[in-house]
Amino acid sequence: MYENRIRKTELEQLIITAEEAAMLFKDKMVVASSGFTKAGDSKAVLMALAERAKIDPLKVTLMTGASLGQGTDGALAEADALSLRLPFQVDPIMRKAINKGEVFFIDQHLGETANLLRANNFPKIDIAILEACLIAEDGSIIPTTSVGNSASFAALAEKVIIELNLSVPLSIRGVHDIFSTGEYPTRRAIPITKANSVIGTDSIAINPDKIVGIVITQKTDSPAEIEAPDAATTAIANHLIGFFNREVAKGNLTKSLLPLQAGIGKVANAVLTGFTHSDFEDLTMYSEVLQDSTFDLLDSGKLLFASGSSITVSQDYYDRIFADFDKYKDRVILRPQDISNAAEVIRRLGIIAINTALECDIYGNVNSTHVSGTHMMNGIGGSGDFARNSYLSIFVTTSVAKGDKISCIVPMVSHVDHCEHDVDIIVTERGLADLRGLAPRQRAQVIIDKCVHPEYQEEMQSYFDRACAERGGQTPHILEEAFSWHTSLRETGSMKKTVMV
Ligand code: COA
Repeated sequence: MYENRIRKTELEQLIITAEEAAMLFKDKMVVASSGFTKAGDSKAVLMALAERAKIDPLKVTLMTGASLGQGTDGALAEADALSLRLPFQVDPIMRKAINKGEVFFIDQHLGETANLLRANNFPKIDIAILEACLIAEDGSIIPTTSVGNSASFAALAEKVIIELNLSVPLSIRGVHDIFSTGEYPTRRAIPITKANSVIGTDSIAINPDKIVGIVITQKTDSPAEIEAPDAATTAIANHLIGFFNREVAKGNLTKSLLPLQAGIGKVANAVLTGFTHSDFEDLTMYSEVLQDSTFDLLDSGKLLFASGSSITVSQDYYDRIFADFDKYKDRVILRPQDISNAAEVIRRLGIIAINTALECDIYGNVNSTHVSGTHMMNGIGGSGDFARNSYLSIFVTTSVAKGDKISCIVPMVSHVDHCEHDVDIIVTERGLADLRGLAPRQRAQVIIDKCVHPEYQEEMQSYFDRACAERGGQTPHILEEAFSWHTSLRETGSMKKTVMV
């Protein structure tokens, strides 16, 4: 029935249904679940918990690796089953619940959650739900399409429920590299010196006494919905490729560049796709999420190797990749997210980090999370882990959004995720602003010239000129006007023509 996937046979007696598993939860519990950008998540038990909460109200804290698929976050929010959610989500229903204040949300660097838990800076996990494709002879589990925080959850939770997913081929075994630094004050160095360094084990150890249930599932991951590159995102990709070519010509980088990290979203995906048609070769990735474009680059031979914490791909790619996973196994590694996103490794390898902004300001501060400064979009994810520690910190965005009603370059960002000190380069479809070695007033002029949409350029220049002339300072601003573009958006539905010249 479960295809010889419980190799420690005495655990077979722990098989239960998802509904039985859902009855193990109690009000106010702290629940942890596998799952990272919709990959390797709990597909049966959390959904059964949402169903149970509809008739038998309870509220729990839920932490994961990153976002869940299957509409699970939405189902839990609709069932009013969550009091607190962390560290990331992408679900429209959950987003609404968070922004209404019905669910508290801790928006956290993805590399940080495991460290906070291990240092006892968060309440103890009562139950962890972990997806696996195999329970090995020694009782350890082989994860599926993500590792996320599962190894830390397994070590720290009081009890564990395993979701044994028969839909994931066993050929995935060997792709995971599980490593723990141990605890303060005697943490070990992370001995990764290349994107493809293997430093740990291929399975997650679990004390068998903690296992309170094994739920058998067949559901596949929710497919990623990635929009194909369009004119704007292709232009962004071309600006970046041109920049990298110039860096190679100057001798700052070789044609292999340095290991790449690319964030989520259509812009980041288009940028990676751009590499397929470039002259770069023998590329490597040390990233978080391996998307469709990663596998295109592996297939094209441009990319030698990709390290991440999850494989999050569209349905076509999923079917193709897992029909013959052996083809990729030696060229892909999935790591715990506190390792994929570790500052120490990102700094050592010299990562080129490419992440997406919702808005940037004229001095190079970036908002990746809060629409108009108040409403949560998804969360910071791993963008901060990479931006602060990378060799090159690049942020991409289209210059305008919602037609051209919103300028994505504003006088002052309405929320700061990545401060000016962590941002080297900003790219829009208009051009690329290389901010390295520039002081704030110089940065502002380059951003206005290269990145701002023509519709907003004159107003922005006027704002900057008046800020310099009338107020001065290291970082000139007219404070009472700095958010007038956002105020205008709220009041008129557009940021256009807000500045009185
Ligand atoms: N103000 C308000 N809304 C804006 C905006 C702005 N300045 N800029 C973009 N938007 C809207 C878009 O119109 C779009 O809305 P829609 O869904 O109603 O169409 C939405 O935000 C998403 O923007 P889009 O242009 O489709 O970009 P994306 O898919 O590349 O996503 C982020 C952009 C910033 C939301 C996404 O990259 C993200 O969540 N990043 C944070 C996490 C992260 O970077 N992780 C990286 C490590 S994996």
